[in-house]
Amino acid sequence: MSNESTPSPFTTLGIVGTGAMGRGIAQLAAQAGLKVILFDVKEGAVEEAKTFINGLWERSAEKQRITQQQAQQYSEQLIEASELAGLAPCDIVVEAIVEKLEAKQGLFSDLEAIVSQQAVLATNTSSLSVTAIAATCQHPERVIGFHFFNPVPLMKIAEVIPGLRTHHEVTQRVSALGQAMGHFTAQATDTPGFLVNHAGRAFGTEALRILGESVADPATIDRIMVDQGGFRMGPFTLLDLTGLDVSHAVMESVYHQYYEEARFRPSPLTRQRLAAGLLGRKTGEGFYRYVEGKQQMPDEPAIETVPACPVWISQDDFESASALAELVNAASWPLETGAQPSEQALCLLTPFGEDATRCALRQGLDAKQCVAVDMLAGLDKRRSLMTTPITQHAFIQAAQSLLNHDGTPVSTLQDSNGFVLQRVIACIVNVGADIAQQGVAEPATIDRAVELGLGYPSARCAWVTITAPRAL
Ligand SMILES: NC(=O)c1ccc[n+]([C@@H]2O[C@H](COP(=O)([O-])OP(=O)(O)OC[C@H]3O[C@@H](n4cnc5c(N)ncnc54)[C@H](O)[C@@H]3O)[C@@H](O)[C@H]2O)c1
Repeated sequence: MSNESTPSPFTTLGIVGTGAMGRGIAQLAAQAGLKVILFDVKEGAVEEAKTFINGLWERSAEKQRITQQQAQQYSEQLIEASELAGLAPCDIVVEAIVEKLEAKQGLFSDLEAIVSQQAVLATNTSSLSVTAIAATCQHPERVIGFHFFNPVPLMKIAEVIPGLRTHHEVTQRVSALGQAMGHFTAQATDTPGFLVNHAGRAFGTEALRILGESVADPATIDRIMVDQGGFRMGPFTLLDLTGLDVSHAVMESVYHQYYEEARFRPSPLTRQRLAAGLLGRKTGEGFYRYVEGKQQMPDEPAIETVPACPVWISQDDFESASALAELVNAASWPLETGAQPSEQALCLLTPFGEDATRCALRQGLDAKQCVAVDMLAGLDKRRSLMTTPITQHAFIQAAQSLLNHDGTPVSTLQDSNGFVLQRVIACIVNVGADIAQQGVAEPATIDRAVELGLGYPSARCAWVTITAPRAL
């Protein structure tokens, strides 16, 4: 459960605030062998948290993940403090109280009068400045951000965020503690959103922009991001799960904290939906409707099978052209191989970071015959098509029928600079590159953090920091 090869540099950890986060941190700390002293202002909250954590250990023992002895031992390591002064023996205190600057500043000032001078004061804040929390402390050099994710035991990452005046040794010790608790520790600078919440801005924001431009509807965008992008969940399913009350506020907060950085600009779409109470799963309706908790995903648009017509493929990108030619042959449609297409031919284009119209005009083609295919992620699980505003209906139908010949689902988009997947990936890459350039975290840390903190597929992580696939 804990990483026993990394010894904890602390022996007694205090938790203030035993809600969703505090109890998870307490559980991991006890498993790492620390004595854990719990305090909460709300009567009965510590008892409730202890019962919750003990229940988890009992179930783990029943499933033989830990022994009965271990469950008993961990349980004995949890100690309730009836008042804040009970945290005096702690060599580190982690606060997970309400997300308000004054409350956290007040708590740390109170704690400084209670704990020893060497004790570390850590905050689990997700949106406040660690430096600002430390600013009212007598010893800001011992204050640090120690940011876990919900649910704490399952999200195997903790951000370690030194404030501007935090002592280097404190950062090292808290990182070692995070590792002893079994988590990957990502050191990041004290900047808005730190690392994970900063890196996560691109996914939903760009998806909302795509929706706002009527390039595709939420279900189409989600299907593309899951099937072609390999993401666990599409951006609109994620927005519905988190709830717009939380997501819209985070979008606005990061945007304003970065002084209206255009990259993070929130969408009027979510503000409007928030006003309408369409928060997502929790209100039974968001971008999708929920019936008895089950997401109602609209059916895929039907694709009509039409007779074969000649197909001409742009040679813009050799690899893409070869893959498409293979598909055309497999479907037994006639392939035109001349330098220019005949008037009857469906023209398939393979733009990267370009819209279908510009791609057609650049090659001197008649846009009425052209349909673009997104080749960024290959043709395996889903195929995304993009039409120009004047592509003739017959050619759109032909392209859909051809690309769907083997039953692989096809999504058809309005013209846009880079389909859906290319656009979202490009934004993730750009935000990741910005994070690296600003020195918020090391590239390898960014990769691992987005994988663990955001659940991004690992193949995409390398793109985030280092590679710029093709023209992205
Ligand atoms: N929930 C998340 O997904 C998440 C993720 C990362 C970070 N955080 C941060 O963690 C902190 C706690 O969040 P949470 O979701 O666990 O909240 P929560 O509401 O579940 O728990 C907060 C607990 O703190 C107690 N509390 C409030 N003020 C207190 C005070 N002054 N002294 C002692 N106890 C006090 C409350 O009684 C409550 O039990 C916040 O700063 C939040 O931003 C939350």
